[in-house]
Amino acid sequence: MNTVAQSFTDHLCSELDSQQDKEPMLARFIAELKTIDCTQVQSLPPLPEPPTVTAHLESTLSAMACGPELANAARSLASAARWNQLFEGEGIEPTLAQGLVAGQLAGQVGLVRSDTIRAGLFLLAPHLHYPLHQHGALELYYVVSGQLTLQYGTTTKPFQVSPGEASVTPSNKVHSLTTHEAPCLVVYAWVGEVESPNWWWVPGANGDWDRVCWERQADAKWIQTRSEPVTQATLEEAGET
Ligand SMILES: [Fe+2]
Repeated sequence: MNTVAQSFTDHLCSELDSQQDKEPMLARFIAELKTIDCTQVQSLPPLPEPPTVTAHLESTLSAMACGPELANAARSLASAARWNQLFEGEGIEPTLAQGLVAGQLAGQVGLVRSDTIRAGLFLLAPHLHYPLHQHGALELYYVVSGQLTLQYGTTTKPFQVSPGEASVTPSNKVHSLTTHEAPCLVVYAWVGEVESPNWWWVPGANGDWDRVCWERQADAKWIQTRSEPVTQATLEEAGET
C-alpha cells in the first residue's frame, strides 16, 4: 500500500466533493479517483530532477491555497513523486519543453499503477504558453498555486483559474494554458480515453488549421509523430463550427 498516494487521493476527493455545486463534472473524476488501487505500487528507476522542479516546486508548495489537508498531502506527493519532463524531442521550443513537468500519482509512471486514470501534480514554469491542443481524454485541472489562464476554443476569450478553483475540459475541446509571473502547481487528472494522442493546433494558410500529433511513449513522455490538416469533421468534433 502506498500511503502517500492513498492520502492524496482521499483528500483530493473530499475537496472536489465540496466543489461539485460549481462544477457537476467533478463527480466523474471523484468516481474515477476512487478506483485507484493504492496497493498497485510501482517501483521505477529514479530520474534526474528536472530543472523546473529545482527552480520552482518549493515556491509553489509554499504558496498553496487549497485546503490544509490536501496541501499537506500534496507536499508528501511532491517529494515522493518521480518528476518528469512531459514533452521531448523535435517540434517544441526548449523553454516550453523544460517548463512542463509532472509528478504522477496514478498511471503508467505513477506511485501506483492505473490503466484507466492518469492523475498527479503538474508544475508549469512562469511565462509559458502551452498552445491550443485537444485530446480524447476528459481533463481536470485543479489549481493549487499560481494563476493559470485557460482558453477554450480558437476564438473565445481566455479566463483565469485561481488556486482552489477547478476547470474541466471536455473530450476533444481545443484549449491552451498560459502562466504569468508566478509558477503554477496544478492537480491534473485524465479519464476516459487516456491513451488518446495529444493534437496541437497550429495556424495554417488562409485561416485554416493544421494539427501536430504527440503520442505518449511507454515511459510516459510525449513524442511528436506526424501532422495533418484540421478537417471539417475535426472542427465539428472540437465544437469549432
Ligand atoms: Fe489538455
